[in-house]
Amino acid sequence: MINMSHVGLRYDGGPEVLTDISLSLKEGSFHYLMGQSGSGKTSLMRLLHIGKLPSRGDIHFFNKDVSKLSRSKRALIRQKIGVIFQDFRLIPELSVFDNIALPLRLSGESDKAIKTDVNAMAEWMGLKDHLKMKPVFLSGGQQQRAAIARAVIAKPQILLADEPTGSLDDEMGLKIMGLFEELNKKGTAIVVATHNKNLVKAFPHPLLTLKSGELIP
Ligand SMILES: Nc1ncnc2c1ncn2[C@@H]1O[C@H](COP(=O)(O)OP(=O)(O)OP(=O)(O)O)[C@@H](O)[C@H]1O
Ligand SMILES: [Mg+2]
Repeated sequence: MINMSHVGLRYDGGPEVLTDISLSLKEGSFHYLMGQSGSGKTSLMRLLHIGKLPSRGDIHFFNKDVSKLSRSKRALIRQKIGVIFQDFRLIPELSVFDNIALPLRLSGESDKAIKTDVNAMAEWMGLKDHLKMKPVFLSGGQQQRAAIARAVIAKPQILLADEPTGSLDDEMGLKIMGLFEELNKKGTAIVVATHNKNLVKAFPHPLLTLKSGELIP
C-alpha cells in the first residue's frame, strides 16, 4: 500500500529530521512506531498521510509515486487514510457530530446512513451526550476519542495513529486497541506511534524504531 525508498525530510531548508528511510506497509500489516521524543515519529507520520512530501527519495501509495500526482489525486488517496493526530486536530467550528461525520460526508454517504453510523460510534466511544458540543468543551480524553472516531468511521485502508491512547485511561486504551485489532483483521494497515510499552506487550506487533531520524534495524 505504501512503499518508501531512501526517503529524507527536512523542514524549510533546515537539517534532515528523517534520513534514508525505506519501508513498506502492506495490506493487513500492523506496526508500532517507537523512538524517543524528537526522533521523528510525527514527521514520519506526516509523510505517510501526505501531509508533507519527502525532500529526497520517493514514496509510492498504491503503486503511484506521490510526488508525481496532482493535488486532486493526492486528495483521493488521503481519503483512504485515517489519521489520529497527536494534537487531535478536531475542527473547532464544527460540533463533535460533524467532526466525526466528516470522512463519511467526503465519501458521499447519505444523511441517514451518516446519522446511524455516527450515533453508533459515539455510543461505543462514550460520547453520545457530547455530539452537539464544540470540541473545546470536551476533556482531553473525550477529544482524543472524537479524533479516533473520526479516523476510523469510514473504515480506512490505512490507519495512522500518533500516540492514540496518550489521554485515555488504561481501560479505554485497551478498548481502542481492540478496535484497531478488529480493523486490522479486516485488512486495514495500521501504524501506531507510542511510548507505551504496556500496549506493545498486550498487543504484540512488529516495531519500527526511529533514532535521530533513522530507522534502526
Ligand atoms: N513543523 C516543524 N518545523 C520544523 N521542525 C520540526 C517541525 N516538526 C518537527 N520538527 C523537528 O523534527 C524533529 C522530529 O520531530 P517529531 O515531532 O517528528 O518527533 P517525535 O518523535 O514525534 O517526538 P514526540 O515523541 O515528542 O512526539 C525534531 O527535531 C523537531 O524539532
Ligand atoms: Mg510526535
